[in-house]
Amino acid sequence: MIILPGPASRDLANRLASELNIKLIPVFFKKFPDGENYVRIDGDIRGEDVVVVQTTSPPQDERMMQLFLTASAAKDNGAKKITAVVPYFAYSRQDRIFLPGEAFSAKTVVDLLKTCGATQIITVNAHNPTALKHFTVPAKDLSAIPLLAKHFLDKGFGGAMSLSMGKKGLATAKEAAAVLKGPEDYIPTQRDRHTGKVTIEEKALNVKGKVAIIFDDIISSGGTMIKAVAHTKRQGANKVYVACVHPILMADSKGKIIQNGADDIIGTDSVPSPVSLVSVAPVIAEALRK
Ligand code: R5P
Repeated sequence: MIILPGPASRDLANRLASELNIKLIPVFFKKFPDGENYVRIDGDIRGEDVVVVQTTSPPQDERMMQLFLTASAAKDNGAKKITAVVPYFAYSRQDRIFLPGEAFSAKTVVDLLKTCGATQIITVNAHNPTALKHFTVPAKDLSAIPLLAKHFLDKGFGGAMSLSMGKKGLATAKEAAAVLKGPEDYIPTQRDRHTGKVTIEEKALNVKGKVAIIFDDIISSGGTMIKAVAHTKRQGANKVYVACVHPILMADSKGKIIQNGADDIIGTDSVPSPVSLVSVAPVIAEALRK
């Protein structure tokens, strides 16, 4: 097995190569003056199982293109199998047609990856893992929630309350609580399909005087997390921490989450950022070993 690092996930690719003790072949990327991408694999990959590692957080279209070109180059240069490791899978929130006439964006991305030669996709905390089952390339969805919970456990937060977003998301809080050995609950968030506006229903949380950790797959605009943190504080939590797998953290969302009462924000290297203190490499390495 050989790792090909994409420019958006070089550190993660290096961590994966050392976890698995396998070779990493450099890939040269450049941008032409008109903005087009250029990719060249700097080594022999004929007959190899190749793992392309490239997250597709913003600028997602550019990173997607780099991923497509790298997979394509691997295919044209004789790779036997191509696994696309895409920790943050852009467009995965449009994982079905919600309103008539909409594009099924996640399916389109998978179809394009297939055309470029991907024989398997590995992603982390996809927005709706069940949607992956209908895709045309076998896809594995891994969870980084236990790794995030372990980070807090190691920092002395055993027994803290694990919270997640929406009733459907309660499984996330349960996953974290299994590591932290504390109670779990969900914050009743709802998003309006037309306006995208997030609201929180009135629901009592048993957090008075407690330490709560809110787990979510992604913080993008921060709108959902800002409301969730403020709600948890209003319910009397002593401390509120935020753990997210994909810390996209657009604009000043990090500052706003802190201003609304969060004591700290921790994310993973699925999306490299100043809060990415937890690596998803161990869970991806384990999946690749299988
Ligand atoms: C929603 O279902 C997700 O779990 C996230 O809560 C949401 O996508 C975060 O988006 P934003 O940060 O833009 O509110």
